[in-house]
Amino acid sequence: MTIDEMREKLKLALTEKRYNHSIGVMQTAVELARIYGADAKKTAVAALLHDCAKNYSKSEMLELCERYNVELDPISKESTGLIHGFLGAVIADKYYGVKDSEIYDAIYYHTVGKPNMNLITKIIYIADGIEPNRNYEGVERIRETAFEDIDRALILQIDSTLKSVISRGGLIHTNTIDTRNFYLKKLR
Ligand SMILES: [Fe+2]
Ligand SMILES: [Fe+2]
Repeated sequence: MTIDEMREKLKLALTEKRYNHSIGVMQTAVELARIYGADAKKTAVAALLHDCAKNYSKSEMLELCERYNVELDPISKESTGLIHGFLGAVIADKYYGVKDSEIYDAIYYHTVGKPNMNLITKIIYIADGIEPNRNYEGVERIRETAFEDIDRALILQIDSTLKSVISRGGLIHTNTIDTRNFYLKKLR
């Protein structure tokens, strides 16, 4: 499938807002790929498809996870917002024909993070939070930092996510904590 064909298919699978977000993530991710030397095409595909499983209902998500043997940890089972990353990695393979382990990882970990993530995964994680449609307190600083020091931007973004999850009373995935600790130690 070409990337234009993926775009057409994705457009039918997402709301207009989520589709525009995906295009924004793709633009930002490709800029970051250029700066940090990641494969532009792979980064574009990962960014475009990162939220491809976002529009399913909770029951559809759980059914698809069962069908495709996507194992869910206890936190993810309780927190539907996290499932679309794990499921999306499989949907990109099954529905969009993407057979690439780096793209798989980038989609799989885009919601919870992962210590020592590969460059494309890191770029998608950051681009998801700073694409042009994103507008929340502190986004400008993360945006600027992303183009100067991607690891530092990662920590800023995780901090911002944690604050927002805590303020909503949500569960925090252990991967996110492990990721933050990993990059904090790396920067010391
Ligand atoms: Fe997402
Ligand atoms: Fe997203």
